[in-house]
Amino acid sequence: MEIITNPTPVEIKKAAQALKDGHLVAFPTETVYGLGADATNERAVSRIYSVKARPTDHPLIVHISSINQLAKWAIDIPEYAIKLAQQFWPGPMTLILKRSELVKDFISGSQDNIGIRVPAHPVALALLSKFEKLGGFGIVAPSANRFGAVSATTAEDVNEELGKFLNSNDLILDGGKSLIGVESTIIDCRRNYPSILRPGAIAIEMIETTTGYTIPTNLQMNNIRAPGLLRHHYSPKADVVIDSIPQPGDGFIALADVPTPAGVIRLASPANLEEYARLLYSAFRAGDRFEIKKVVAIQPSGEGLAYAIRDRLARASSI
Ligand code: TXA
Ligand code: MG
Repeated sequence: MEIITNPTPVEIKKAAQALKDGHLVAFPTETVYGLGADATNERAVSRIYSVKARPTDHPLIVHISSINQLAKWAIDIPEYAIKLAQQFWPGPMTLILKRSELVKDFISGSQDNIGIRVPAHPVALALLSKFEKLGGFGIVAPSANRFGAVSATTAEDVNEELGKFLNSNDLILDGGKSLIGVESTIIDCRRNYPSILRPGAIAIEMIETTTGYTIPTNLQMNNIRAPGLLRHHYSPKADVVIDSIPQPGDGFIALADVPTPAGVIRLASPANLEEYARLLYSAFRAGDRFEIKKVVAIQPSGEGLAYAIRDRLARASSI
């Protein structure tokens, strides 16, 4: 496996060809790094599941280069979903839609729907365009981490998580640290109104403004499987405890205006919500590297991104 830093157009073309040839390519997105495979290649997709140690009935998100590719993958797309796609793609939003013929059971966990996203990172977009020029239709990419673990927000994190499971022809594209740092907002668009399956940087208020619908804020499974929606997920090795007083030797994550108690190991001091989201997973990883047993996180208050951060903290802290 080769790591390509700041890939040139020629190197991105080589990566697109590697995908066409059935290899895996981890690539940067604005949310977190993804582990990519040709969405129509069953063997390549099965390797994603084994590299991640992920149960095969959990569906994957198809990444496409633009809204123009949407009709290949989804049918019966409601008007409000088109509005969302026009407003927020490329960007940190996944739409769950009724699947087209192109979607095979091996990417959808045998469900009749499919998650689709146009990522905003320039390397991801260039890779998708090149891949489509080579005759590809879309790239499935879960977060590039072992099942249940913390998503990777740098190429080094991907290598640390998955490097030993990748083959010599697989690639990791290094496009710097993910700007947003938490996974995309997942919006269920299978009914005549939208609902949220996973909160993210595209906030509830933004979805309501764009669609004119009121979004119920209680997250529901809606009878579809999504491991990101399991209560215990996105967890470091350390125990995560929310809103408690850390003891000496504990790790500590809180906004910068919260002082560090004596003897406590400060893992992140984000100045604002954007920085909190961006630093959260690397702070968890740093705690694990220091072999810290317990990490206390003080939740941010408020709506928007704060809601997504509280969601990830709640999952990381649940048993
Ligand atoms: O930001 C992101 O969405 C990142 C980047 C790489 O694009 N991807 C990502 O994928 O987070 P993954 O597989 O780690 O998490 C996607 C979550 C999983 O919990 C999956 O089960 C759920 O979305 N999901 C995917 N397709 C679905 C579907 N058709 N119905 C319900 N849930 C779905
Ligand atoms: Mg994931």
